[in-house]
Amino acid sequence: MSTPAEAVPAGLRGRRVAVLVAGGIAAYKVCALVSQLTRAGCTVRVAMTEAAGRFVGEATLRGLSGHPVLTDLWAAGGAAEPHVELGDWAEVVLVAPATAHALARLAHGLGDDIVAATVLAARSPVVVAPAMNDAMWGKAVVAENVATLRRRGLTVVEPEAGRLASGHVGSGRLPEAAVLLAAMDGALGESGDLRGRRVVVTAGGTREAIDPVRFISNYSSGRMGFALAAAAAERGAEVVLISAAAHPAHPRVEVRPVESAEDMLGALREAVPGADLLMMAAAVADYRPAERSETKIRRENREELVLRLERNPDLLASLATSPGTENLFRLGFAAEGEDLWEHTREKLSRKGLDAILGNDIRRADIAFGSEHNAGTLLFRDGSRVDIERVTKREMADRILDAVVPRLPAR
Ligand code: CTP
Repeated sequence: MSTPAEAVPAGLRGRRVAVLVAGGIAAYKVCALVSQLTRAGCTVRVAMTEAAGRFVGEATLRGLSGHPVLTDLWAAGGAAEPHVELGDWAEVVLVAPATAHALARLAHGLGDDIVAATVLAARSPVVVAPAMNDAMWGKAVVAENVATLRRRGLTVVEPEAGRLASGHVGSGRLPEAAVLLAAMDGALGESGDLRGRRVVVTAGGTREAIDPVRFISNYSSGRMGFALAAAAAERGAEVVLISAAAHPAHPRVEVRPVESAEDMLGALREAVPGADLLMMAAAVADYRPAERSETKIRRENREELVLRLERNPDLLASLATSPGTENLFRLGFAAEGEDLWEHTREKLSRKGLDAILGNDIRRADIAFGSEHNAGTLLFRDGSRVDIERVTKREMADRILDAVVPRLPAR
């Protein structure tokens, strides 16, 4: 069976997926799916009913997912409420195979096994993939349970017709992996407030070459930009991250590495037309060496070396009139010391921004390279949102919470 990681839709890669397995023969197919999701960068955690354990081994699913498998609500030594913990954690839940019995439990809101209880505790979209004998699938009670689940907002994937384990030919087979993956991707996308939006983020301090081995740069770590890109991707956006820094990126973020401010401008010109949101978290070097030596500058007998610097273009200003940016919401960043708010407000208007995040570089607890940040978002209409010290990843979500409702409608 071939289950290439590349076949996993981009919207699903890197997600936290809870796979809940009920007791049906098709449980063996779920093993391949768990492996495929894991290889595509998803974190997969599995829970299975006691009956599922008669079809596939807990050790198999533990090995393939790389995480302990929940087998009942009362496991010794685990979380006090394992179903609540798993339901909280998951970004999407898949119940596969969902037996007739499991469908009945879900439709009636029972919570007496780990699968049903986790679905009750889920805060994320739930996809249910029924698989059973054709006569069972054909029963009115099963159809009513499915209709109930759909009415309540769960995604129920239609089983496929074909040869069934019982030897009968009919409807009831667990669909191909591609169908399940597409259903999870679809369910996830509907929940993101940036679904269908294109977002461009810049990150890191640009490097302005002096010669092939030296450059001028700054202390920016690029972490805020990577956090913003990840947060936007998790909210369903298509994200391009133009970065002068190298960190592991969210699997759904397309990273375009750059070095200098000039490279960054070229990459921006390519990426922004048609985009909805630009977040300029990069610390763009204001000056670059006027001449870049093609060969390594030797010390020789030189007592001093004079570098003449010339100004880099202002990237935001250069993009101001770029075609295809009429609806682009521009968010800038200002890391300032003295006269913080005066400078921040001035940049907001001078650079034609829709919003700017100002923060105070004098604060040691949010210094360059820190995992934390704090600051205030100022909007063009004068409104402001204060964000107290939080991790950069959380900061990214706070920023998007404030910005997304202000994006122009498409
Ligand atoms: N920026 C830019 N192009 C530059 C410099 C900065 O687009 N050449 C962007 C940054 O990415 C940031 C915002 O402008 O979002 C503010 O950056 P900052 O370095 O504070 O602004 P400067 O224009 O360099 O102002 P100053 O040097 O006076 O602080």
